[in-house]
Amino acid sequence: MNKHQQTALILGGSGRTGSLVSKQLIDGGVQARTASRHGSDVHFEWDDPGTYEIALKGVDGVYLVPPTMRVRYVEPVATFLDMAVAAGVAHVTLLSAYNGDRAPQNVDVAAVEVQVASYREFTHTILRPAWVMQNFTDEHLPVLDNLLVVPSGGGAEAFVDALDIAEVAVETILSPDKHASATYSLTGPQAMTFDEVARTIATVSGRPVKYLDIGEETWINGAIAAGVPADYADMLRWLTGSIIAGQGSKPTSDVETVLGRPATSFDEFARRNAAVWTEQEGQ
Ligand SMILES: NC(=O)c1ccc[n+]([C@@H]2O[C@H](COP(=O)([O-])OP(=O)(O)OC[C@H]3O[C@@H](n4cnc5c(N)ncnc54)[C@H](OP(=O)(O)O)[C@@H]3O)[C@@H](O)[C@H]2O)c1
Repeated sequence: MNKHQQTALILGGSGRTGSLVSKQLIDGGVQARTASRHGSDVHFEWDDPGTYEIALKGVDGVYLVPPTMRVRYVEPVATFLDMAVAAGVAHVTLLSAYNGDRAPQNVDVAAVEVQVASYREFTHTILRPAWVMQNFTDEHLPVLDNLLVVPSGGGAEAFVDALDIAEVAVETILSPDKHASATYSLTGPQAMTFDEVARTIATVSGRPVKYLDIGEETWINGAIAAGVPADYADMLRWLTGSIIAGQGSKPTSDVETVLGRPATSFDEFARRNAAVWTEQEGQ
């Protein structure tokens, strides 16, 4: 990608990784166009293909975040990719999930990986991140009343920093030929139990944070009661079930392979974000 002439389209541009990808590209002198329903450079709605063409105009590389909080999205992604070909897109980096190829058939994670890889008109890279560390600092897994409540059965996960995901994505967009047809399983440097996560948060925040295991279905029903779409339960069951079954993500060297430096540890992430948990105290 010629960074002075081309434009990267960042879907999910207002989201956790997309906003970081676009910031890193812009800081590096690359034109990045964020796209989403709210707060991006262009209005983009997965349910309205009429919004795709303007988003894709003059675009060379795409960071593809599929529509979130849903399990079926192969069709809009196919329509988008066909339009990307027509627009002359040369590379697509897909944000998938750890073990994406082994996702259950009732969610479209594996199907979309296959779909992106099926095009010969553009090169592609697939990113398969583990659970993201930022889940603990945003609304996904908040510490409430000094409790971190997640179903895990004592299983471990090699949580990854969203900044590392973004940095890897940027590298693949800037050097697409180097990363063509590559699949990267992005993790942190160590697998941790949720008990260890709670202890780390307690250490950096000074709060008596404890981990509380909870039944998987109780937790999923609570998420649905709080507004998560009911059919998304299948996705949550896959994500939590893997950890409970002792098949959470295992550390890989893929972040280091792409970036030439080790992945960020949870300890480092927690120290960087300690103020979030300190400010939450009493909420
Ligand atoms: N959380 C984890 O631990 C984890 C781990 C591995 C993989 N993942 C994957 O990461 C993805 C989420 O990425 P993220 O964390 O960077 O984003 P995010 O913070 O979840 O934000 C989602 C982004 O997508 C946009 N979006 C959602 N629905 C849309 C729609 N219908 N049309 C257009 N844009 C839409 C949102 O913007 P608007 O709402 O403004 O449209 C936002 O910019 C998911 O596919 C998830 O499976 C997550």
